[in-house]
Amino acid sequence: MSQKLNWEELGFDYIKTDKRYISIWKDGAWDEGKLVEDNHLMVSESATGLHYGQQCFEGLKAYRTKDGKIQLFRPDENAKRMQQTNKKIMMPEVPVEKFVDACMQVVKANEDYVPPYGTGASLYIRPFMFGTGQTIGVKPASEYIFCVFCMPVGAYFKGGMTPVNFITTKFDRAAPMGTGAAKVGGNYAASLQAHQEAVDAGFADCIYLDAATHTKIEEVGAANFFGITKDDVFVTPKSLSILPSITKYSLLYLAENYMNLKVEERDVFIDNIDEFKEAGACGTAAVITPIGAISHEGEKHVFYSETEVGPITTELYNTLTGIQLGDVEAPEGWIYVV
Ligand code: PLP
Ligand code: COI
Repeated sequence: MSQKLNWEELGFDYIKTDKRYISIWKDGAWDEGKLVEDNHLMVSESATGLHYGQQCFEGLKAYRTKDGKIQLFRPDENAKRMQQTNKKIMMPEVPVEKFVDACMQVVKANEDYVPPYGTGASLYIRPFMFGTGQTIGVKPASEYIFCVFCMPVGAYFKGGMTPVNFITTKFDRAAPMGTGAAKVGGNYAASLQAHQEAVDAGFADCIYLDAATHTKIEEVGAANFFGITKDDVFVTPKSLSILPSITKYSLLYLAENYMNLKVEERDVFIDNIDEFKEAGACGTAAVITPIGAISHEGEKHVFYSETEVGPITTELYNTLTGIQLGDVEAPEGWIYVV
C-alpha cells in the first residue's frame, strides 16, 4: 500500500488499490481471469457497453472482524443478482463460483486496504461487466469483460448512522416493466438529475415514487426503503422496478427471526407515510441510514426524530453490522471468510 489512509475519515470516494481482476468472455466461454495492476481498460470504440448501455455492476463489502479476519457478506447473493441482470440485458452469465472467487481474490490481493475493526469503515467491492467486441448494430455484443476492483470506504450518506432528510422527486428512475430490478448503469444515469435537484434543495437524496401512478415509494436514492409501523411491523415496498436489495432482504429476515417483528413487503403509499414511526434507507453503501424526514409536495413528514435514531432502527443496525463484523452469529451461509 503506497498511501497512509485515515480510516475514520473515509467517505465514498474512488481510491486506487493495488490489484483488480479481469476476465474476458469470447467465443462462447470465459477465460480463467487474472489479477492486474493497471486500472485502465482498453476496449474497442464500438463496445456495446459504451453505446447501448449493455453494462451492469454489483456492490458488496468485506469487513475486518475483531480478531483480524476478513469476511464477505453474502457474495453469492450479489452473484445471483448479477446473473438476473445479465439475463435482462442479454449478456452471458458469470457463474456464481467465478464471481465469488474473483471477489475473494481481489480482497486477498488488497488485504492491507481492509479497514481495521472498529473504524466504521469497510472494503467496498465493485464487480462490473460490459459488452466489448466489435458490434455497432443494436444487438448483444460478441465479447464481454468482467472486472472486480475494491476500495476502502466509510459512510455513503454523510453522518452514517444519524438521520438525514429526503425529498420526493417528480422524475422516474425506472419503468414498471423496464430495468429497475436490474443493476444496470442506465438506471443510475437516469437518477443523476433527480439526485442533484434534491441535493441542491438541501436534502441527502431523493425518493422515487412508482412511475405509473406516483403514489407509492420505490427507492431512496441508491437504496431501498423500510419503515416501522406504529404497531412494530417492518414494512418495505414491493415492486418490479425496485432493485432487490440484499441488505433489505437480510433486514427482513433479521427483523422476523432475530427480533420477532412482523414483516410485510407491500405497497407503501406516500400519502399514508404517517403509518410509520421510524424509517430508513438500506443498502450496501448506505448500510442503514435513518430517515429523519421526507418532504413531499411542500409538506415535511418527520418520523422518529431529525436528530436521533429510533430504537428499532438502532437494533436492526446493530444486528446487521454485528453479523457483518463477526460479533453476532450469522444465519447459515451468510458469511464467507477470505
Ligand atoms: N437500490 C438501489 C437503486 C441500489 O443501487 C442499491 C445498491 O446496491 C440498493 C438499492 C441496495 O442494494 P444492496 O442492499 O444489495 O446493496
Ligand atoms: C450500493 O449500495 O452498493 C450501491 O450500488 C449504491 C451506489 C454506490 C451505486
